[in-house]
Amino acid sequence: MSKGTYYVTTPIYYPSSKLHIGHTYTTVAADAIARYKRVTGYDVMFLTGTDEHGQKIQNVAEGKGLHPKAFLDEVVGEIKKLWETMEISYDHFIRTTDDEHERRVSQIFKHLYDKGDIYKGEYEGLYCTPCESFWTESQLKDGNCPDCGRPVQSTKEEAYFFKLSKYQDRLLELFESNPEILEPKSRINEMVNNFIKPGLEDLCVSRSTFNWGIPVPMDNDHVIYVWIDALSNYITALGYPEETEGNFAKFWPADVHLVGKEIVRFHTIIWFSILMALEIPLPKKVFGHGWILLEGGKMSKSVGNIVDPVVLIERYGVDALKYFLLREYTFGQDGLFTNEVLLNRINADLANDLGNLVSRTISMVEKYREGIVPSASDATDFDVDLKLVATSASNLVDKKLDNLDFSGALEEIWKVVRRTNKYIDETMPWALAKEEVLAGKLDTVLYNLVESIRLISALIQPFLIHTSRKIWEQLGIKEGELTVWDTTYQFGLYPVGTKVQKGEALFPRIDVKLELEALEELSRQAKETAAGASKEAEAVEAPSIPLKPEITIDDFAKVDLRVAKVIAAKPHPDANKLLILTLKVGNEERQVVSGIAKNYKPEELVGMDVIVVANLKPVKLRGELSQGMILAATSGEKLTLVTADIEDGSTVS
Ligand code: ME8
Repeated sequence: MSKGTYYVTTPIYYPSSKLHIGHTYTTVAADAIARYKRVTGYDVMFLTGTDEHGQKIQNVAEGKGLHPKAFLDEVVGEIKKLWETMEISYDHFIRTTDDEHERRVSQIFKHLYDKGDIYKGEYEGLYCTPCESFWTESQLKDGNCPDCGRPVQSTKEEAYFFKLSKYQDRLLELFESNPEILEPKSRINEMVNNFIKPGLEDLCVSRSTFNWGIPVPMDNDHVIYVWIDALSNYITALGYPEETEGNFAKFWPADVHLVGKEIVRFHTIIWFSILMALEIPLPKKVFGHGWILLEGGKMSKSVGNIVDPVVLIERYGVDALKYFLLREYTFGQDGLFTNEVLLNRINADLANDLGNLVSRTISMVEKYREGIVPSASDATDFDVDLKLVATSASNLVDKKLDNLDFSGALEEIWKVVRRTNKYIDETMPWALAKEEVLAGKLDTVLYNLVESIRLISALIQPFLIHTSRKIWEQLGIKEGELTVWDTTYQFGLYPVGTKVQKGEALFPRIDVKLELEALEELSRQAKETAAGASKEAEAVEAPSIPLKPEITIDDFAKVDLRVAKVIAAKPHPDANKLLILTLKVGNEERQVVSGIAKNYKPEELVGMDVIVVANLKPVKLRGELSQGMILAATSGEKLTLVTADIEDGSTVS
């Protein structure tokens, strides 16, 4: 019997093939809550996906000479592969380039337009023509475009606007009457005081300066700007507005949108207003988690630390990484990542506390009872407390997870792990084993240890499913009746007489010093490779240099281009970048000074048929006459002369 439905979402990711552990944080948390809800009897919808429209994507794809969709298919494939490696149990992966999503966003936009919540107006801003970007005054760098450094022009252009201002009062009232809708609570103050109270302006929701987006339905010169497109994914994935009976009726409103703190504003102010305009219920909660930071600041600027989840998983396993992310950091707050914190956490909690508990217990059952778990008989003084701690954990975990306190939930489980380890120290089974009269007590201790481990293995399954499975194998039980969540309230279900079997260490102890050195070396190599790749990319991807202003054919016809043979070449005596060339153009000879000394040796040039701008006004360059200039193609540092395989003097047009 289902306890009800549960709908959890992550933000949809900007496609970048290199997601770091910071990115995986939201997804790992969403995965844990989804798994937890499933094991506790809910019908779960866990949605994630990719946010694929916008000018940046278009630029990157074009820089690689690819159509955006072809570029995206590859990168999205890599993201899906990463989620597979991390065993992210999503139920649906949405891409904003999915036909269904595009169609539904278009319908949502049209509906808002028809209702009057979207209207056509004029967008005023500072525009950088070469970059095709609008900027605000505060974004400028020294008064110029922050991307290319060129001057910007103040421009007006037609655009569509969403009436955000209309929802200001309703939003204020909402946060007052229903503060649970946004957590942690501190984020409410931020939204109310920094954004809503100072006044909400209508939001520009279309662009006409690029076309990689969903066309505005009534005006195909515009595309829908990214936030309406992106945020709507939470409902289009459920069928809205085309199919409102199926998943939409079942799962909306979402139980929780998990998002990073920097996008809380979009998920509350903008998204809530859009939903109010659509007259559909708001999500029950938005949770804005903190960032995982490196000492130097942002994750992308990693120094000496490995932030590639794939590398970490290869070395320590997926369970260790997930455990670390959820246990180490408080979900609503920022936290600092270092390799050392990671390794110490794995050693302390996983290798020592849990790993040792399992291996010590199994060894003792093998040593003292030939691997067969005996039935408890003579009680010890410590049994009652152990059972109490073990069986009350699931309630405490429930409470913590209701507040999305992952770290607190894991701490509750580890209290059982530590209590069970303490039980070994208290009862000293090795001493009991020495005296025949204490055999009954030893039986009790061994049984209670095995049963506590069974409870622990069931409690950790939403977070560390592999570890649970490995434990079940060692305990000789199958996933099923004895491992379901409901059995975590009961002590004594483990079947007496079952044979246990020692397996490999669950989490081998890491030599922190050696491992840190290894990671540092890996990080150094990764950086070298990345630097090489970006140099290569720079060389391969010719920078998209903006075009000069348009000219007419008549303008072009004024330029007299001729084929010229280089008959002599020598270095300029006063400038080491310049060469002095003697050119034969038909039956005329002339001298041209050219800045190609870095790219060509004089002797290489003799005999080449190059193109010269023959009617360029002669000038003196560092004292040498230059009668024209020769054509060259350049890309960054690279330069190659334009040549023609035809007799000198020929015209070029
Ligand atoms: O924001 N620590 O996508 P995104 C914690 N497409 N979380 C981090 C992090 C870090 N160091 N770095 C990134 C977008 N994240 C939009 C969302 S939703 C309709 C559109 C988190 O790929 C970040 O906070 O830039 C966000 O929650 C998620 O990764 C995706 O970020």
